[in-house]
Amino acid sequence: MKSIFNLSAKEAISQALIECRKQTLALFTDINEYVFTQQSHPDFSPIGWHLGHIGFTEAYWILEYLAGYPPLFPKYHKLFAADGLPKVERQNLPNFTVIKDYLDIVRSKVLNYLEFAPVKQQERLWWWIIQHESQHNETISLIRQLHKVNSNSFGFNQQGINIENPTIISDMVGIKAGEFIMGNNNIKAQDNERPPYNIYLDTYSIDRYPVTCRQYKEFMLADGYKKSQYWSKEGWQWLQENPVSQPLYWQDASEWEHHPVCGVNYYEAEAYANFVDKRLPTEVEWEKAAQFETTVLTSWEKKQLDALDNQDNKLFNTVPVNADFETKSIWGCYSMLGNVWEWTASWFVGYEGFEYYLYPGYSQVYFDHQHRVLRGGSWATLPWALRSSFRNWYNPWVRQIFAGFRCAK
Ligand code: AVJ
Ligand code: FE
Repeated sequence: MKSIFNLSAKEAISQALIECRKQTLALFTDINEYVFTQQSHPDFSPIGWHLGHIGFTEAYWILEYLAGYPPLFPKYHKLFAADGLPKVERQNLPNFTVIKDYLDIVRSKVLNYLEFAPVKQQERLWWWIIQHESQHNETISLIRQLHKVNSNSFGFNQQGINIENPTIISDMVGIKAGEFIMGNNNIKAQDNERPPYNIYLDTYSIDRYPVTCRQYKEFMLADGYKKSQYWSKEGWQWLQENPVSQPLYWQDASEWEHHPVCGVNYYEAEAYANFVDKRLPTEVEWEKAAQFETTVLTSWEKKQLDALDNQDNKLFNTVPVNADFETKSIWGCYSMLGNVWEWTASWFVGYEGFEYYLYPGYSQVYFDHQHRVLRGGSWATLPWALRSSFRNWYNPWVRQIFAGFRCAK
C-alpha cells in the first residue's frame, strides 16, 4: 500500500470521501425512526435531514456544478437544500433506507466522475465537500446527544476518568511577545482561514488547560448563575429568559471533575471568566497558543491523526484535560485539538482580503457580529475539520454544541 504522502490528489480524495462516509453512516446504526425524523431542538434539523443534505450537497456541487449533469432527484432540492424549507418543516422525511439509497446513487456517480475529472482545477471544491460532510457528521453527533438529554438518558453508562495529579490544572502559560502567521493558505483550508497574515501580539497568559468541571463547579456553588455582576448585559438578559443553573451537558460525579466543562454558551463562558478575574482569549491569542512543533497537527491526513488524542469519535466523550497530551502546543497548552471546542472573545469576521468560497452563504453571511468564533474541535470532530487554523462559529447563546473554553489574562 502506498503511504498517504505519496497518494495522488485523486486517490487521497477518493479515500477521504469513502472514509468520511463510513463514519457518517456509523452514526445511524442505532437510530430509531423518531430520532431519525424528529427535531431534538428548534434550532436543529432532524438527523435524517442532515443525512439527505449531505447527499444533496454532493450531488449539487459535484454532479451538477462540476460535471454538468442534470439534477438527479429534483424533488430533493427543496427538501435538502440549506435554504429550502424552514427547520420545523424538515420532519416529513423519507425513511433511512430511501435516503441511504439516494446517497449511494449519488456517490457511485461521483466516484465514476472522479476517475476522469480534471481534479487539478477542482481540488478545492472536492476538499470542501469532504469538510462539509465532516461538519454535518459532528452536528449529527450533537443531535444524537440532545435526544438523550431530552429523554433523560444522557450520562447513562458514561464513565468519567479520574487523574493522578490534579494540582497542576489551574496553571497558566505565558506566551512571549512576537509575530506569528495567522490563518492557512492550503488548498484544503476554508475561505474564512484565508488569506493568512502576520500579526504581532504582546505578551499574554492563557490557561494551560480548558476549564474543568471542578473549576466550573466553584462558579455554580458561588451562585454564579444568580449574580448579575459576572454577566454581560446580553448574557444576563439571556439568562433571565432561559433560567438555567448548570451547563447543558453537566456531569456532577467526581470522576468527571477533571474533564473539560461541556455544553456552555458564550455568555456562560464569559461569566465564569469574570468570576475568576480573567477573560476569554481572542481567536488570535488562541491560534498563537496552538502552534505545534510538527506539521502533523495542521495536516488533514487521517492516518497521521490516528495517534492523536480525543477527536474523530474515538471515545464518544471528553477526556480529562491533561490526558490528551499529543495535542500539546509548543507553549505547553494541552487539549488544543479535540476534546471540546473553545469559545473565543472574537466575532466571526473575514480576514483582510477575504474572498468567499464556495458561496457567500458559507461564511460571509455570518460576518454579522451575531456569531462568536470557536476553536480547536471536539471529540466528535473528524480530522478534515480539525486544525489550529480552523474556525467554527455560533450565536453566543448556543449551548448544544460540544463546547467549553479556556481563559486568558
Ligand atoms: C460552521 C458548523 C456553523 O453547520 O451551520 C454546514 C457548517 N455550513 N453546511 C453549520 C456548515 C454549511 C456550519 N458551522
Ligand atoms: Fe451544509
